[in-house]
Amino acid sequence: MTATDQPQMMPLRVTRNDQIADGIHLLEFRDTGGNPLPQFSAGAHITIRVPNGLLRKYSLCNDPAERDRYQVAVKREVTGRGGSSTLIDRAKPGDELYVAAPVNDFALPQRAQDFLFIAGGIGVTPIMAMIRQVQKEGKRFRLYYVTRSPETTAFIDELSKPEYKDKVVIHHDHGDPARSLDLKPVLAERKNREHLYCCGPRPLMEAVRDMTDHWSSTAVHFEAFSEADIHKATDRPFKVRLARSGKVVEVPADKTIMEVLREHSLDVPSSCETGTCGTCRTKLLAGQADHRDLVLAAHERADNIMICVSRAKTDEITIDR
Ligand code: FES
Repeated sequence: MTATDQPQMMPLRVTRNDQIADGIHLLEFRDTGGNPLPQFSAGAHITIRVPNGLLRKYSLCNDPAERDRYQVAVKREVTGRGGSSTLIDRAKPGDELYVAAPVNDFALPQRAQDFLFIAGGIGVTPIMAMIRQVQKEGKRFRLYYVTRSPETTAFIDELSKPEYKDKVVIHHDHGDPARSLDLKPVLAERKNREHLYCCGPRPLMEAVRDMTDHWSSTAVHFEAFSEADIHKATDRPFKVRLARSGKVVEVPADKTIMEVLREHSLDVPSSCETGTCGTCRTKLLAGQADHRDLVLAAHERADNIMICVSRAKTDEITIDR
């Protein structure tokens, strides 16, 4: 997608808005005329125009075989521009909201038979749809689900059922890093050619990325939930030299390289814009990058950069654009 692309929106009726854990609501949408909805596959998300006018992406968590409803689990954000809070507080059953048809940047490969899922907090939502799909297809999975406490754990009843006893590990760290789940033994070797899908807070995903450098990069998949943690309070401006034109552009602390290139009318293909899909991979020709993506392997980082999230450690970098 490019900066000017706007998703086609359809009006859908809100049919449910219920709290399912502390700070987490399950919202359900159906067609206003009772017609089947556009089909989706596990890992897909929908874009919702939330009541304060913002567009927000949410992963679908219901069974992809269902054509009559979309379900999303929404966590109340304490920071950000209030998109999720307005959805939780103002969307009532019977209301109509505009929703774009599902898009999947986190799809499961058809031929894979074994899956390892790692979810942190609300990152469990796409994984729920994956579990439902994988189970139906007779494939195998393991899930490691990390949350703060039982009260903040969405879908805890469903995932605690006896049928999941040998497949699901739910771990509560009570907000204490010393009690975090040790994933090293889980990721030490890739078993049965399994595919790893990880979704959750960026520190969890970065830790998983670092622990899977010895896995095939095609077997490790991430989805970032929030764009809020792309920028850090310590970010500073830097310059980007565009090798093809020789032009130098300034990237301010609160913007990404991609945003600045678009402001200069450069066409920059992208998809996730959270450093997980690989679409915006660009050759780094000089300078040192501050890598914030979850795509590049360690050996690729010296001469590649994902310009939707990554920044510069040096005052200037040169990229192949
Ligand atoms: Fe997906 Fe940059 S657009 S990694």
